[in-house]
Amino acid sequence: MEFRFDLKPIFSEDIAKINHYLLPSSFRGNRQLALDHSTKISEIIDRLGEYSANAQGLSKPVTSSQKLRLAENQRLYLLTDVNTGRYGAVIGLLKVGVKSLYVFDELGQTRHVDAPCVLDFYIHDSRQRSGLGKILFEHMLAEEGWYPQRLAVDRPSEKLVSFLRKHYGLMTPIPQTNNFVIYSGFFGESEKPV
Ligand code: ACO
Repeated sequence: MEFRFDLKPIFSEDIAKINHYLLPSSFRGNRQLALDHSTKISEIIDRLGEYSANAQGLSKPVTSSQKLRLAENQRLYLLTDVNTGRYGAVIGLLKVGVKSLYVFDELGQTRHVDAPCVLDFYIHDSRQRSGLGKILFEHMLAEEGWYPQRLAVDRPSEKLVSFLRKHYGLMTPIPQTNNFVIYSGFFGESEKPV
């Protein structure tokens, strides 16, 4: 996905972690530069968020710059390829954050947990199934210090279910009544039934 502006000055690495100021965590610069970059990143997030919603058949995007600005506990990882086309291209997004959830364990007991959550995940249609989703996901896991089996996944698509099965062996969901899917191995020793 290409834009009317050059991506190279904004993204110094292939994967950028974007905070609620809509700037890469590695950003260093003055106020003017911050404003310029956050305006451009806002446009990127809004367009990518719409593509992600379309790919999932959702009526409105889960991810937008406005939502991210308000969500201090969420992070958005953007995968870019600055060597594509004239100005580079944005390839995908992965939005994560910790949410307070009530979930059922394997015995059907309710538990209250602060769960690391996968909230939105999208790789551009032209680049899917070439390993880029895995690269982005692995980067996020390392950066956050999270384990795949401890994640709650918000309304996963069939493609994401297949992705998690293939790359992380997640096969056995624990039935829930909300939109989140958790897998066997989700609960550590420390959580107790409420
Ligand atoms: N059909 C079925 N499985 C698929 C498909 C597909 N069209 N595309 C990817 N997968 C799964 C498969 O397990 C595939 O392995 P396989 O090719 O051996 O069958 C594996 O993902 C490939 O891994 P990657 O290449 O690393 O993944 P990719 O770069 O395609 O990224 C992603 C995975 C993000 C799910 C991507 O396919 C995508 O953007 N899909 C459309 C949007 C979407 O469904 N996002 C998840 C929404 S739910 C949420 O965000 C919480």
